[in-house]
Amino acid sequence: MSAIATETTKAAESTRTVHFRIKRCDGPGKPSRWEVFDVPVPAHANVISCLQWIAANPTTADGKATTPVVWESSCLEEVCGACTMVINGKVRQSCSCLMDEYAPNDGDTITLEPMSKFPVIRDLWVDRSRMFDALKRVRAWVPIDGTYSLGPGPMEGPKESETRYKLSECMTCGCCLEACPQYHLETDEAAWATSFIGAAPISQARLFNEHETGAVLKADRLEALMGPGGINDCGNAQNCVQVCPKEIPLTESIATIGRAATFEAFRRFFQSR
Ligand code: SF4
Ligand code: SF4
Ligand code: FES
Repeated sequence: MSAIATETTKAAESTRTVHFRIKRCDGPGKPSRWEVFDVPVPAHANVISCLQWIAANPTTADGKATTPVVWESSCLEEVCGACTMVINGKVRQSCSCLMDEYAPNDGDTITLEPMSKFPVIRDLWVDRSRMFDALKRVRAWVPIDGTYSLGPGPMEGPKESETRYKLSECMTCGCCLEACPQYHLETDEAAWATSFIGAAPISQARLFNEHETGAVLKADRLEALMGPGGINDCGNAQNCVQVCPKEIPLTESIATIGRAATFEAFRRFFQSR
């Protein structure tokens, strides 16, 4: 039996006390502080269920009454990306983070922090809207008139469908942006508009460029990615692909869009002569 399996079996046997060290912040622009909570953790608990216990019992380990910790979650099955946070130094979804793996023993400590590349709204809840703005920037949609029936869409081969299905699994969780050394938290709107867009929107541009109908906006998407903050700002560190919970081939998408942007630049150059 592996060491993890042994620890997991041990953890499953009884409720244990785990120290939750949580980075807290009362609101945008407010200073942050650490608070520790001692949580009775039953077998098979996940981080969210422990946060729910803390919300119902907002008293720190040293007996001080405090406010309930705030976080965001929705699907609870690693589909929406809302519960993403930094757990023991690594960005991931908290709903799928099992305590039996992360803190199997009585007296273990687990550390929770909000993602650092997004503005904090409160405690572990961050504002991911800059990622959704980036999807608008690269026109990540298929432009169709939905006011009347257009009949069946274009046929897609199994190979293309397999490639695009994988790309479509992106849940805009932000893990790839959190891990990227080129992606920064910009509070200034003007600086944000020209700062690196990150791997997820680049990969979504590829998803829609490779759709037969979506391809009509290909030149617009490439234009957005050829400018400041676009594809050329990627330093190819490949952290993004390592942390993506959906195992999306982000570096392959970056290379594909990089090649398409080069062709587009040549096309424009020769067209203008
Ligand atoms: S390859 Fe590196 S620089 Fe480029 S998006 Fe991924 S993590 Fe960021
Ligand atoms: S590409 Fe992966 S890590 Fe990045 S936002 Fe999408 S699902 Fe999350
Ligand atoms: S709550 Fe949706 S991914 Fe965790």
